[in-house]
Amino acid sequence: MIYLDHSATTKPDPAVLQTFIQASERYYANPASLHQMGVEANALLTRAREQIADIIKTSPEQIIFTSGGSESNNFAIKGLARANKHRGTKILVSAIEHASVLESAKALEKEGFTVDIVDVDEHGVILIEDLKKKLTKDTVVVSIMHVNNEMGAVQPITEIAQIVHQYSRAFYHMDAVQSFGKIPVQFNEENGPDAITISGHKINALKGSGFLALRKQVNINPIIHGGGQEMGYRSGTVAVPQVVALAKATRLASEKQPQKAMQFSKWRDELHEYFKQFPYVHVLSSSQGAPHIVSCAVQGLKGEILVNAMQHEGIIISTSSACSSKDHTVSHVIHAIKVDPSYEKGVIRMSLGEGICEADIAFFKTAFSKVMHQVKEM
Ligand SMILES: Cc1ncc(COP(=O)(O)O)c(C=O)c1O
Repeated sequence: MIYLDHSATTKPDPAVLQTFIQASERYYANPASLHQMGVEANALLTRAREQIADIIKTSPEQIIFTSGGSESNNFAIKGLARANKHRGTKILVSAIEHASVLESAKALEKEGFTVDIVDVDEHGVILIEDLKKKLTKDTVVVSIMHVNNEMGAVQPITEIAQIVHQYSRAFYHMDAVQSFGKIPVQFNEENGPDAITISGHKINALKGSGFLALRKQVNINPIIHGGGQEMGYRSGTVAVPQVVALAKATRLASEKQPQKAMQFSKWRDELHEYFKQFPYVHVLSSSQGAPHIVSCAVQGLKGEILVNAMQHEGIIISTSSACSSKDHTVSHVIHAIKVDPSYEKGVIRMSLGEGICEADIAFFKTAFSKVMHQVKEM
């Protein structure tokens, strides 16, 4: 099987798994314990935090370990909004955010916050004028993702941060789940997000790991109350082996990023070119988008049919996203980019990742051509 669903999740890197096993066997003590074993586990945790902070360019106490992207997004939006209610009660999100962002913002409506949505163009890039129009003095949190998970649109984050900081007192949170390891992600001294979400299982670490990185002096409320771990923001015994494995995966992803971006964008563009021969295939991803996401829609067909047919040929792909793949409805992202109704149910996503080679891309093309031939005969 050729796995082209890396945006849904990735296989843990063997070196990362090895780190996890070693840390689980040796450093299983509670890092909050006073005894020697606890001290050693805590030292390992501290080192992991320092390594990640160094890569993201913030200070170690600004890295809060979580269970992944959804938790980090919930933490950022709810934590920033609640801690800074005195600044304003309006939350601004883009129309193509992950459900964990949209639903977190919606949940805050019960606490007196209001939510406004920034529109995107047909490529999924936010409309800067709409952002400017909807950003008010009362805006407290803006959450706009770096790379969209369904069709790979990359947002102009420096421009967004500049606008948010210039025209409001809001904090800018960026979901970088799909961008880290694919395009550069760091805090920018000059201008950039105030909080960044990263998920471990999208970068060949283990499921159930991730972090929220904060720029210095960002005021945020805790997400889990209890014993005060994670600088009081997220109580609960820290999963040291998970965190150590995550630090390793973060380093590997960061080191490999330039090479991967070059390789994946070549294959992405090659696939875009290949799809041109099918008049009933509409490509949704773009060469300005993320290197690893290729998305297209086939007229008059259902994405599930294509996923199954491709699986039959030995290729694993997905419909627009793992989250929307089971409810059989058209995703909010596909709605937001206004895909023609005759295409909107036929969206498929191919997402590249570790271990993919030239031959796999060639194999994909052969399989897709065969499937197109079969379905158009039906
Ligand atoms: C853009 C984006 N944000 C957040 C998430 C949620 O991450 P996790 O699965 O780690 O909760 C995903 C997962 O697909 C995603 O693609």
